[in-house]
Amino acid sequence: MPVDRERSVVFGEAVELYESARPGYPEQLVTEALAYAPAGPVLEVGAGTGKATTVFATRGVDLTCIEPDARMAAALAAKCPGVRVESGIFEDYVPDRRFALVYSAQAWHWVDPDRRWDLAHAALAPSGALALFWNHYLVTDPGLRAALAEVAHRRGVTSYSLHQDEVNLRERPPHPLAGDPRFTDLDERFYTRTEWYGTDRYLDLGRTISAYRILDPGVREEVLREQADLLGDGVDMTFTTDLTLARRAG
Ligand SMILES: C[S@@+](CC[C@H](N)C(=O)[O-])C[C@H]1O[C@@H](n2cnc3c(N)ncnc32)[C@H](O)[C@@H]1O
Repeated sequence: MPVDRERSVVFGEAVELYESARPGYPEQLVTEALAYAPAGPVLEVGAGTGKATTVFATRGVDLTCIEPDARMAAALAAKCPGVRVESGIFEDYVPDRRFALVYSAQAWHWVDPDRRWDLAHAALAPSGALALFWNHYLVTDPGLRAALAEVAHRRGVTSYSLHQDEVNLRERPPHPLAGDPRFTDLDERFYTRTEWYGTDRYLDLGRTISAYRILDPGVREEVLREQADLLGDGVDMTFTTDLTLARRAG
């Protein structure tokens, strides 16, 4: 399925909300990704406001970040002054070196599916590592989750959202890299934690999600108001981060 380019850049309109409402990524994931990769320069694809970048930057790595949205890139540069920020999409990026680690947090699905594995392969040094990860948001209480989903679906929220039903991340079709001889040592890891979200932060999280951002703003706020009525003070969230690791074969 081609990438919806218009939808892939709706995040920059909501930089501050994005920064305050989205969860970050586990330190343990960063430790494990760096341990899996050989030493050397690191490339991040789709860095946004730097939610993953800050964790990698504190580990002292030589970090280059690609980010196409100017507002996101400005927030990133302010937050992570030590990293090199390249503006543009990964598809247009011409690396001036080969990287020991290429990683992407919540952004790999925005890169052209027909080209992304070739681009990753070309950007990696021999035996370099690819680390792709996503946070999955789940309202912990199944009854509340279903009620929130009912509101969203009735009001036209079409895809991936806050109140998706529980997905079994461990039983998925074979990974596209499983049959690609250019990559080896494929590994999938999961990190789960819970976090209490006050109602305002939960609604702001909704405002950062592309399925909500593409709604007419008036409709979006009505949907969120209806959901707020179900929430009371807040909601217990379960976040699972899934990480796929692979190594360039030679
Ligand atoms: C959901 S945000 C994730 C941002 C950040 N990595 C995080 O985890 O918070 C997706 C990011 O990918 C960027 N993006 C969209 N298409 C891209 C592409 N083709 N190449 C690189 N980045 C892209 C967007 O501008 C946005 O900042």
